[in-house]
Amino acid sequence: MEERLVIKVSGSLIFPPRKDYIERLRDSIIRVLGAGYKIGIVVGGGSLAREYIATLRGFGVPEAMLDIMGIESARLNALLLSMFLSPHATPKVPKSLEEALEVFLDSHVPVLGGLQPGHSTNAVSILLAEALGSKVIVNMLNGIDGIYRKKEEIGRLNPIEKVTYDEMEEIIKGMKQLAGEYELLDHLGLELLRRNRIRIFYINGQEPELLYRLIVKGERIGSMLSFS
Ligand code: UTP
Repeated sequence: MEERLVIKVSGSLIFPPRKDYIERLRDSIIRVLGAGYKIGIVVGGGSLAREYIATLRGFGVPEAMLDIMGIESARLNALLLSMFLSPHATPKVPKSLEEALEVFLDSHVPVLGGLQPGHSTNAVSILLAEALGSKVIVNMLNGIDGIYRKKEEIGRLNPIEKVTYDEMEEIIKGMKQLAGEYELLDHLGLELLRRNRIRIFYINGQEPELLYRLIVKGERIGSMLSFS
């Protein structure tokens, strides 16, 4: 079976859009495709989702509706990236795993945003990996080099090279589970990982060339989250 890969792109890398950056990201993804990988992509809601959600939360809008705002924001970010990836991707954002699989089996790159309320696009990337039969996800973070135990360590220390699912559970314990505020990984995502034993590499998405170096050249970059 050929190599399959899911890439999660932080929404804050896509919105507000910067043409030079998105071109570099596209080139990097196309180089990985050229190396023979079959790819699925999930884009987060980023600052677009957070601004919409913060405004609506101020009006007392229920949490599930805020999630829907986040899902649609992520889909808009996904649409932008899919148009940049043409003709490798089609300009239609799959709204279910079935639709994503159809696009994938048609030899295109499915580019998803959100799916349903109650979780983050990180969980979507794990569901997509499961559906596409990929054992690896690359999570492209916005300006953060990998996983840290505490926010205060970001930028001061090197990220943790290797993290187990159990260690990740400790790290995300205190994190909020609210619309627009899921961080590294949500609890659903962790449970999905446990049933599939998928590995996630976390890299700094602001340097999209790292994607090719990590996946094709096999360099050790950022953090790796795995079962053991
Ligand atoms: P994300 O949580 O993925 O965006 O989706 P984020 O936290 O800004 O992450 P990055 O940095 O872009 O990667 C935005 C919001 O959309 C809702 C959640 O409220 C989430 O916080 N959402 C997203 C869902 O409810 N379900 C989904 O399937 C996806």
